[in-house]
Amino acid sequence: MENKRLRFGLIGTGLVADFHAKALQASAETTLVAACDPNGERLAKFAKTYGCEAESSTEAMLARKDLDVISVLTPNATHAELGIKVAAAGKHCLVEKPPDMTLEKTDRLIAAFDRSGTKLAICLNCRFRKALVPIREALAQGRFGTLLSGDVYMKWFRPDSYYHLDSWRSSREHGAGVTVQQAFHYYDLLLYLLGPISRVWARMDNLAHPGVPVEDSTTALFEYANGARGVMQASTAMYPGSDLRIEINGSKGTAVLVGERLVRFQFEDERPEDAAVLQIGAQQGPTGAAGAASFQYFEHQYLIEDLCEAIRRNRDPRITGREGRKTLELALAMYDSAETGGWVSVGGA
Ligand SMILES: NC(=O)c1ccc[n+]([C@@H]2O[C@H](COP(=O)([O-])OP(=O)(O)OC[C@H]3O[C@@H](n4cnc5c(N)ncnc54)[C@H](O)[C@@H]3O)[C@@H](O)[C@H]2O)c1
Repeated sequence: MENKRLRFGLIGTGLVADFHAKALQASAETTLVAACDPNGERLAKFAKTYGCEAESSTEAMLARKDLDVISVLTPNATHAELGIKVAAAGKHCLVEKPPDMTLEKTDRLIAAFDRSGTKLAICLNCRFRKALVPIREALAQGRFGTLLSGDVYMKWFRPDSYYHLDSWRSSREHGAGVTVQQAFHYYDLLLYLLGPISRVWARMDNLAHPGVPVEDSTTALFEYANGARGVMQASTAMYPGSDLRIEINGSKGTAVLVGERLVRFQFEDERPEDAAVLQIGAQQGPTGAAGAASFQYFEHQYLIEDLCEAIRRNRDPRITGREGRKTLELALAMYDSAETGGWVSVGGA
């Protein structure tokens, strides 16, 4: 196993599969071997583009002896069912975010891998953004002082046509809507940086996509367990779309991330090396603000390579099923709050 490339099969050859394929082909750790998708035309085009085998069905793919890892790249509410089949086949698994749409299904997914002993990683690729490293270091060193605020502003744009690409994209039950579809990555980053959120208030609206029955905009307020407060504005209604913005403020420091760049990294205890941090991500490409396919594959590659290392060393991947579950729990609390109009405790807090 040490020197051998891990062999991947993909379930689902839609939009995100392109990023996985590019990442798998760019990595020295992996080989893209096969893919399957009930949409034969899409599958044939994908297999031709990436020079992989077009497998006839999920079952045929799972029965293959020559695959180490299966990536589940299908609509949100299908993840647990497919992931459980991957565990039963004794293979390692990468499941796109979210782990599924309910905690009950997510728990069954996690339990299946606890039983199989194979690895499960959830594809929260944004956690591998390089500019997060100095923020995490400054947090660990207490350079922010008392943490006061952790906010995310994701003012993106998707045209009406995006919501009609596939039927699941306009169905809440199947996991559509800005809260879980686009913003999931970014409140996940708030959890990653600032720790658990104990209470949330949220309001969801459809501001600019008439005829689409899911929210295109969510406004939320957060109370962190550490006492900080936070705001989220997440939307796909705001033409032409601006880069994601995350702000962290403490009594002794501030960090502001825009897309992949740290534009502010300033502390009461100034250090000369802080200036170099502002160069991270300076060459950034598109980060998703203006289109569903306008982002880079590098963070997927880092996440896939972490899973490969986890398999080789028999350790947990950085983003386990349980990590993904915490972010889903916050998403579901926001749905609850938007429905009831009140504050909702997260995770029994
Ligand atoms: N991490 C990221 O940055 C990122 C970006 C985009 C999408 N995603 C996630 O990736 C997943 C797929 O999104 P997408 O935009 O590629 O969707 P998509 O609709 O473009 O592609 C999904 C594909 O899965 C196939 N499929 C559906 N049900 C299936 C089943 N039961 N078995 C096998 N194949 C099945 C469909 O035919 C389709 O081709 C979603 O969970 C989404 O949240 C993640």
